[in-house]
Amino acid sequence: MAKPVLVYCLLLCLLVLSVSASHQDEDRQVYIVYMGAIPSNAEYMPTSQHINILQEVTGESSIENRLVRSYRRSFNGFAATLSDSERERVANMEGVVSVFPSRKLQLQTTASWDFMGFKENKTKRVPNLESDIIVGVIDSGIWPESASFDDNGFGPAPSKWKGECAGGKNFTCNNKIIGARYYTSSGGFSGTPESARDHIGHGSHTASTAAGNSVEDASFYGLGLGTARGGVPAARIAAYKVCDPGGCSSDGLLSAFDDAIADGVDIITISIGGDTPARLEQDTLAIGAFHAMAKGILTVNSAGNSGPSPGTTSSVAPWILSVAASNSNRAFFTKVILGDGKTIVGRSVNSFDLKGKRYDLVYGKSASRICDEDSARFCSSGCLDSELVNGKIVLCDSSRGIVEAEMAGAVGTIVKTAKSDVSFVFSSPVAALFEDQYETVVSYVTSTEDPKVSILKSDASMKETAPVVASFSSRGPNTIIPDILKPDLTAPGVEILAAYSLDASPSAAEHDTRRAKYSVLSGTSMSCPHVAGAAAYLKTFHPNWSPSMIKSAIMTTTWPMNSTDSAVGSEFGFGAGHLNPLSALHPGLVYESTKADHIALLCALNFTTTSLRLISGDNSTCTAQEKADTLPRNLNYPSMAAAVSSRKAFNVTFVRTVTNVGMVNSTYKAEVVKGAVSSKIDVKVEPDVLSMKSVYEKKSFTVTVSGESPEGSEPVSATLVWSDVSHTVRSPIVIYAARLF
Ligand SMILES: *[C@@H]1O[C@H](CO)[C@@H](O)[C@H](O)[C@H]1NC(C)=O
Ligand SMILES: *[C@@H]1O[C@H](CO)[C@@H](O)[C@H](O)[C@H]1NC(C)=O
Ligand SMILES: *[C@@H]1O[C@H](CO)[C@@H](O)[C@H](O)[C@H]1NC(C)=O
Ligand SMILES: *[C@@H]1O[C@H](CO)[C@@H](O)[C@H](O)[C@H]1NC(C)=O
Ligand SMILES: *[C@@H]1O[C@H](CO)[C@@H](O)[C@H](O)[C@H]1NC(C)=O
Ligand SMILES: *[C@@H]1O[C@H](CO)[C@@H](O)[C@H](O)[C@H]1NC(C)=O
Ligand SMILES: *[C@@H]1O[C@H](CO)[C@@H](O)[C@H](O)[C@H]1NC(C)=O
Repeated sequence: MAKPVLVYCLLLCLLVLSVSASHQDEDRQVYIVYMGAIPSNAEYMPTSQHINILQEVTGESSIENRLVRSYRRSFNGFAATLSDSERERVANMEGVVSVFPSRKLQLQTTASWDFMGFKENKTKRVPNLESDIIVGVIDSGIWPESASFDDNGFGPAPSKWKGECAGGKNFTCNNKIIGARYYTSSGGFSGTPESARDHIGHGSHTASTAAGNSVEDASFYGLGLGTARGGVPAARIAAYKVCDPGGCSSDGLLSAFDDAIADGVDIITISIGGDTPARLEQDTLAIGAFHAMAKGILTVNSAGNSGPSPGTTSSVAPWILSVAASNSNRAFFTKVILGDGKTIVGRSVNSFDLKGKRYDLVYGKSASRICDEDSARFCSSGCLDSELVNGKIVLCDSSRGIVEAEMAGAVGTIVKTAKSDVSFVFSSPVAALFEDQYETVVSYVTSTEDPKVSILKSDASMKETAPVVASFSSRGPNTIIPDILKPDLTAPGVEILAAYSLDASPSAAEHDTRRAKYSVLSGTSMSCPHVAGAAAYLKTFHPNWSPSMIKSAIMTTTWPMNSTDSAVGSEFGFGAGHLNPLSALHPGLVYESTKADHIALLCALNFTTTSLRLISGDNSTCTAQEKADTLPRNLNYPSMAAAVSSRKAFNVTFVRTVTNVGMVNSTYKAEVVKGAVSSKIDVKVEPDVLSMKSVYEKKSFTVTVSGESPEGSEPVSATLVWSDVSHTVRSPIVIYAARLF
């Protein structure tokens, strides 16, 4: 059952990778067999156990061509080619938590850090501690020769580092990129890599945003000129390549987690996800990140680019920090000058300079001899007549017409777009116009004898209304665990300039022969490493903080976003708010959750005691009583969400515990700020004053929310704010009507 293959996606600059798991023999395919934590007894040898299981199930003594991967360093499991009946037998074996097909996943800066007040020369840093931080980047590899990864001034790798440079052919690590590994694609996915070198640009971009050096005078052909830098320029990078132009496989991704955790990274950033949410026991990102969390490593993940419909985020596990994307105050615009002198402003990141020359303008609709008007106006593939468009600028009703116009010899293209909130890099001069502006050009071309037009090189505006959640950013609610709010927060992910690969074209089009050291990309893939960089920064000041403490500090200190402003969006778009790296250093209070708390959550979600013991590697239990006593919404999470019946009165209580990480003798008072449509709800906090006598002291409280639930897909919301003299600790409270999705 090969699923359709989307070869490349012009929008969002992300490769949308093929979803087919092509089959070798019969109907065998690659399955992942997840077996939980590595048993603690010293004699247990994961790989020989994996081989035994495979031999038993297949009846074959030689299973080399069956075993695809063995997960054995940080957790237990393997990937193997199995038939359907073999899969069933494995699933019923002792020690197996879940068996599921490996699937294809998708890859989903100069001004952006300044925008958050994280200014280069005004940010307090501790360089010798920062250089002990290792950021693990699971992505499409890295371009090791980029100035962003130069190791000038770096000493040898920190002594805790246990990884290696296994970057493959023609790949050299240095004291900045201290580790590299790559995972050959399985299951017949194309593009088998022979090194950790980045052939897409995506991995270099995300790595440099999280932890790249400060590089002055970086730009994309002069656009976005400034200093490109990561959140922690002095930190080290370990690159784990799981994506190639042919795809990213989830079995390879799980190997990358297995290695990264054992190698000793401090933070994992992973801008990859499925296009739909998966059940936790079949979600390789959730599985890998769980074992990372158990070892004290926070995983930061992109929420996805499937917005703006509700329920689209695929990053759902509560032990992951999930990041939405919003704009910053900078945006790229491209002007179109019509023959009558009128100027129209469109979107694109256009590096091509036509020097103001005016070209003949032709509407796709009247530039085809073989297609009907309805196909021709979109400049659909094969429609445009070279003789009619060669050397001209073409007007197309869809951005899908750009490549067709280029192929037919057009100089440039003006296209209609439904998304006016993001600019993309194209392989020729392009201006994307929002409806009204586009109609202006259509009426000009249809009413003018000899229509002419020019497309100018882009300009950057620094005056955008920001932050506003991008339309493409995946939205909550969480369809897998409805009472855990996702995404967790938003960060800059629109038109981000960062390091690129000299093997990739900046527009991702093969026929685009330009090569750029820095390029502009948009997506939650770009916002994710901003948060990972901030988490790494926080870790330099609080090296012993657990993943949940770092996550809480980042979430409760965000910039508030205005959920009553429909243009900004709701908590389903931005979660707790917008990343604010400096204030995250001083959260005052944190909401902690341990591995045991997450195991209790899984118990409430119907995982069995047997599975939970495998997953946790300890004697965890899940009795009927424990299950009944645990509500997912009572996980000690920094945000609060509950799905309730539509249009009924509700009364829900959240139980939370905060840990004092501020000063001794501090007194926090609760305040509730109403958000969207929240006149209909009543929020009580009990007690509403917390006195902390010592550091690390814990205090519990309850939040009771009552009212009438909304009928639409948008939530009612409020914000709980605990404040003392110097801290404000903010948590969104979100109530929404269940089963709308
Ligand atoms: C920051 O400081 C460095 C060295 O002192 C200087 O070269 C650079 O121009 C400064 N950058 C800004 C944005 O002020
Ligand atoms: C190694 O890769 C770099 C970057 O693509 C290239 O310039 C160089 O020629 C390659 N060297 C070899 C020996 O292949
Ligand atoms: C939030 O947005 C609403 C609607 O646009 C506006 O009336 C209100 O003043 C805004 N609040 C803040 C704090 O900006
Ligand atoms: C757990 O299983 C019970 C009984 O099968 C079912 O009623 C309940 O809805 C399940 N809960 C979840 C969270 O799946
Ligand atoms: C689980 O193990 C821990 C430590 O090994 C022990 O303290 C605890 O009592 C055990 N719990 C159960 C339910 O066996
Ligand atoms: C909600 O429930 C709590 C305890 O269950 C109760 O004390 C409170 O009065 C209820 N509130 C409303 C508005 O029904
Ligand atoms: C905290 O308060 C206690 C009791 O009020 C007092 O004895 C102690 O000195 C205070 N500590 C600090 C650091 O202010």
